[in-house]
Amino acid sequence: MKVRIKNSLRKFIYSSINYKHWCLIKSFMKEPRYVFNCLFRQKNKKTDITKKILTEGFYTGDLNKIMGDSSWENTRSELLKLKDSEEERCKSKQTRYVARSKELVDSGFINEFIKESGLAKIAEDYIGGSGYLSVIELWWAWPNFKKSGYPQFHLDRGDFRSLHFFINVIDMPKGSGESLLIDKKKTDEFLSKRKTWGAEMLEDKVISDVIEGYDVQNGSGPSGTILMFDPGHVLHCGGRMTPESERLSLLVSFHSKAKFLKEGFLRPSTNFH
Ligand SMILES: [Fe+2]
Repeated sequence: MKVRIKNSLRKFIYSSINYKHWCLIKSFMKEPRYVFNCLFRQKNKKTDITKKILTEGFYTGDLNKIMGDSSWENTRSELLKLKDSEEERCKSKQTRYVARSKELVDSGFINEFIKESGLAKIAEDYIGGSGYLSVIELWWAWPNFKKSGYPQFHLDRGDFRSLHFFINVIDMPKGSGESLLIDKKKTDEFLSKRKTWGAEMLEDKVISDVIEGYDVQNGSGPSGTILMFDPGHVLHCGGRMTPESERLSLLVSFHSKAKFLKEGFLRPSTNFH
């Protein structure tokens, strides 16, 4: 009898919640006050960028404009130098990683860039408090590279709120491996019809009725184009490349303190004010 009740309860819970609810519950168990504040107390304090991410799930813009008087060009030229120096290694190892988080976070120019760009403040406004810089990586894919990134749509795991910034370091037209995403409304529509439990890679045919006739959002554009989105809230993918195209992207990612996966954090976001 007990087992039957337990199984029915499990079935009921499973049929009533989707992966986003599950993230909310796990985050609430870890940081109840934070999640409560995010949901009920902070609605009026947000910037326009945050408001757009909260309502539509993403924001695209020009990093030069976001940075105001500071320039993205210095950082860009340092990243290009880094790519040149790592080209041989990337090609021989067939890896997209020019540099990973630990190398980049300790390099002075990246530290300065995150401070000057205000990315940490944007992330904190969206996250609803201080969090952590969790990823900073430079990805390169040269023409005819076998694969770069995760080309199937998916949701990331592990947090109630987190924010990805994808920055084009070179001009990246459509088909150069730029991030693609499905806005919040459409993602919610999909989740109401089908269960996905985070990090599950979805073939296009699985989401075809959601994307049919829908303009998939993307991060294509000249150098300095920035795409911001919450990877746990909108279906996204990247790395769909035409053979002759090249991709050079900087990924900067922040998580809240409620992140419940085991992977370590890199630096408190407050280090970058
Ligand atoms: Fe992802």
